Amino acid sequence: MSLSGLLAGRSGETNILREERGLDAAVQLLNNGECVALPTETVYGLAAMADDPVAVRKIFAAKKRPADHPLIVHLPSTEQLSLWADDIPNVAYELADRFWPGPLTLLLKKRPDIPSIVTGGKDTVAVRVPSHPMFLSVLQKLGKALAAPSANLYKQLSPTTAQQVMQGLSGRIVAVLDGGPCEFGLESTILDLVSESPAILRAGPISRLQIEAVLGAPVQTPTSHDIAVPGNVESHYQPNTPLQMMSVASMVSGSTRHRTGYLVWSSLASSLLNGAMHVRELSQEPALYGRQLYHSLYELDQLGLDCICVETPPKSENWMAVNDRLQRASS
Ligand code: TXA
Ligand code: MG
Repeated sequence: MSLSGLLAGRSGETNILREERGLDAAVQLLNNGECVALPTETVYGLAAMADDPVAVRKIFAAKKRPADHPLIVHLPSTEQLSLWADDIPNVAYELADRFWPGPLTLLLKKRPDIPSIVTGGKDTVAVRVPSHPMFLSVLQKLGKALAAPSANLYKQLSPTTAQQVMQGLSGRIVAVLDGGPCEFGLESTILDLVSESPAILRAGPISRLQIEAVLGAPVQTPTSHDIAVPGNVESHYQPNTPLQMMSVASMVSGSTRHRTGYLVWSSLASSLLNGAMHVRELSQEPALYGRQLYHSLYELDQLGLDCICVETPPKSENWMAVNDRLQRASS
């Protein structure tokens, strides 16, 4: 399909865009008020011009996302922070200096003039500068911010490849820009800088310790926060196949092994399940495990199994983002 055909929205199909030409087409589509799926370093995002409420509404329609769920605003650079946020504390700039571009989202007071559809009617705004070279290049060519949630249907798994975006949104969006598999594979860390003391609202690739090292002060963690935000709900990030967390012992004592998928990390589980059909062995290193997690869940979900059994990961701090996603996936 030619770019002019794409721009006219003639085909009704979702196009996979690639390389420099694809990137330029994505820029034109976005400039034209379309929403386009783009790769970030965390997961694929479904982007639209953040200052265009009509374009942003298309994101909600494509994802079937409830209108009161706020979106993250992706900026081309820290310089544009003050176009979106008010009363920005110094620590926001310190964190931006250290972690942007990168997978840290800051929750700040919103400027009164920004479209309320972006913030789900809240008086706060979530912002970050992403580091994926293609997303960043699109932002710089536009010179303006993009609102983007993860590029999946509401409540489903976040995609970490263009093919996974297609599985959920094919026929519902004009295009996806293929940037290969995502570097981190889990959504960004969200840090609340509006409440009295800084709190992590969603664990992610940037850890509490990394943030505390910049702030020189303690940071609250997700288990202890009770801010009820639409979009930060228990049952999120779910595959279609029921998912259960369990110990190695419960895993190997199960009887319906041919209709079950297994996600394991320990060498004990790997050796005991040796011979079971649908086993995915993930890394014992939490960051790498995080990168593999959604991808493996997508694969197992495709098989139409009765259940996905996940070996409970360690409970230590550096496994927090992984444990958070698995809890939501199994709830
Ligand atoms: O890594 C990421 O963060 C990816 C990529 C695309 O940037 N984006 C992402 O967006 O995960 P989404 O919409 O799937 O998740 C955004 C989360 C939601 O849980 C939402 O509730 C929270 O951010 N959020 C956004 N704006 C907020 C606000 N004003 N107050 C509280 N939470 C907010
Ligand atoms: Mg999401």
